[in-house]
Amino acid sequence: LSLDQIAKIRGGRYIGTATDVWIMEQDAPYKKITTSNEYSVWTPENTMKWETLQPQQGAFNFTEADKLVSLARKTGKKVRGHTLVWHSQLAPWVEAGNFSPAELKKITKNHVQTVARHFRGKIFHWDVVNEVFNEDGTLRDSVFSRAFGEDFIEWAFRWAHEADPHAKLYITDYNFEGDTPKTKAVTALVRKLKKKGVPVHGIGAQGHFILGNLDGEGMKRTWKTWSDDLKVDVAIAELDIRIPMPATPEKLAAQAADYETVTKNCLAVKRCVGITFWQWTDKYSWVPGVFTGEGAPLPYDEDLKRKPAFDAVKKVLVAG
Ligand code: G3I
Repeated sequence: LSLDQIAKIRGGRYIGTATDVWIMEQDAPYKKITTSNEYSVWTPENTMKWETLQPQQGAFNFTEADKLVSLARKTGKKVRGHTLVWHSQLAPWVEAGNFSPAELKKITKNHVQTVARHFRGKIFHWDVVNEVFNEDGTLRDSVFSRAFGEDFIEWAFRWAHEADPHAKLYITDYNFEGDTPKTKAVTALVRKLKKKGVPVHGIGAQGHFILGNLDGEGMKRTWKTWSDDLKVDVAIAELDIRIPMPATPEKLAAQAADYETVTKNCLAVKRCVGITFWQWTDKYSWVPGVFTGEGAPLPYDEDLKRKPAFDAVKKVLVAG
């Protein structure tokens, strides 16, 4: 059985991966595994971001994203939409335009609803807002927060829900596994939004981890709070665990142990719905391009061979 098939047996969970179609078009062996039943959920790594979907004001381009959704449907995958409102990979015209708050509100609503409507019924989770907090729990500075404070978060969820009532709507962030100010801020915000009846259904923990730095207990506690107290779904949305290069057998074994911890924690949390790797092979990881001297964060190596991390995830899923 594949990782995803075993995860299904373990409480209807899924295993997914980030990918984009242009990579599959130029790499057949990569495509074979990406489309295989190892994964049942795809997240477009870059092709549903604002800069790609609306590079110029009012000029939407769904070409690449449509290809992904159509191939996903053909190969039996669900799609996690990523991401509607994010300060990064935003089309430059949004900031350069110096819009009034009223104009920016219209622009943001139009983006969220045009995109959510376009894919209506074909996206099972949307990452509605991404990375809105600083490490100290304050609201991150962005074109959106400067104009609206935190109100844009509530609006984005309501707009997305109106445009696609069946998608589960997520708030996502990174570095908020343990009992940190950022964790507290996200938890408090979701509690407040739920109380107001805002359609927020899940919290996405990106899970961009560093070897040996994992707060396994804190992570479990936080995810349980979200699942059992806040009563929202929890998705591990962008999992990778980077290591200082070179990747020695010792480091790969330690990495496998960290993957084991994360997988166990998901199984221990009632509403942890699934785990998505941020790409599944080191060949296409974003990590080496951004963190000099670090890499090899995924369950398959650059030659598309399974690593100890893969076996660790499988072992945990099999054991239940
Ligand atoms: O497509 C262009 C190409 O035309 C150009 O020649 C090339 C030169 O730099 O850049 C290409 O774009 C790159 C793009 O990935 C597609 O490969 C961008 O430079 C590069 O910055 C971009 O990086 C992405 C990053 O988000 C941007 O913030 C990574 O692939 C992607 O993995 C990463 O994903 C984010 C999540 O969306 C949110 N959470 C954190 C995560 C990691 O940063």
